[in-house]
Amino acid sequence: MKALLVVLALFLPIINAQVPHWGPCPEPVTQPAFNLKQFMGRWFEIAKLPAQFERGRCIETNFTLKLDGTAHVVSSEILKGELKTIEGTAVVEDKRNPAKLGISFSYVLPYTPYWILSTDYENSALVYSCTDVLRLFHVDFAWILGRTRSLPAATIDHGKEVFTNNNIDVSRMILSRQQGCDKDL
Ligand SMILES: *[C@@H]1O[C@H](CO)[C@@H](O)[C@H](O)[C@H]1NC(C)=O
Repeated sequence: MKALLVVLALFLPIINAQVPHWGPCPEPVTQPAFNLKQFMGRWFEIAKLPAQFERGRCIETNFTLKLDGTAHVVSSEILKGELKTIEGTAVVEDKRNPAKLGISFSYVLPYTPYWILSTDYENSALVYSCTDVLRLFHVDFAWILGRTRSLPAATIDHGKEVFTNNNIDVSRMILSRQQGCDKDL
C-alpha cells in the first residue's frame, strides 16, 4: 500500500488533468498496412481526449517525411492570441506494425506512443496514445484528426464508435476549437 502511494505521488503530475484507468493499456486494432508516406502533410485536431479546456485552439500538425524514413513533426496552436509551435520527430516503433508510431518533441524525452488506429489518409484519422504505469493503471490520449478544420458529425460519431469498440473510453472526448483560425490571430 505504501509503495502504491509513492507511485501515485510520482505520477500524479501526469494524470492530473485526466482520468486514470485501472489496469494495463487496451490493445486496439491498428490500421493494417499503414503507409507513413500517405499520412504525411497537414492534419487538424477535430476532437480529443482528455478534455483540456484551457488549452489553445486551431491545433494542427504537419508531418514531413525525412530521408531517413522518420517524419518531421510540427504542431501548432493559437494560445492567448499567439501562435505557438513545437517540433518533434515521429518514428515507426514496430517494423512489423508500421501504424505504431512514436513521437518525441525533445531529445531528452522518450518517444510516446502515437498509434494510427484507422485512417483513409484523405479525410480523417483516429490516433491513440496510451502509457502503462506499472500495469496498475494507464493514462491515455485519443484524437480524431481531419484534413479539413471540420468533419461531418457522422464521421466523428463513427470515430468514437471505433475507439469504444477497442475498449477506449471516449465519453469525455471534446470537440477542438477550429473557428476563426485562418483570420488574424
Ligand atoms: C508542412 O511542412 C512542409 C515542409 O517543411 C512545408 O513545405 C509546408 O508548407 C508545411 N505546410 C503547412 C501547412 O504548414
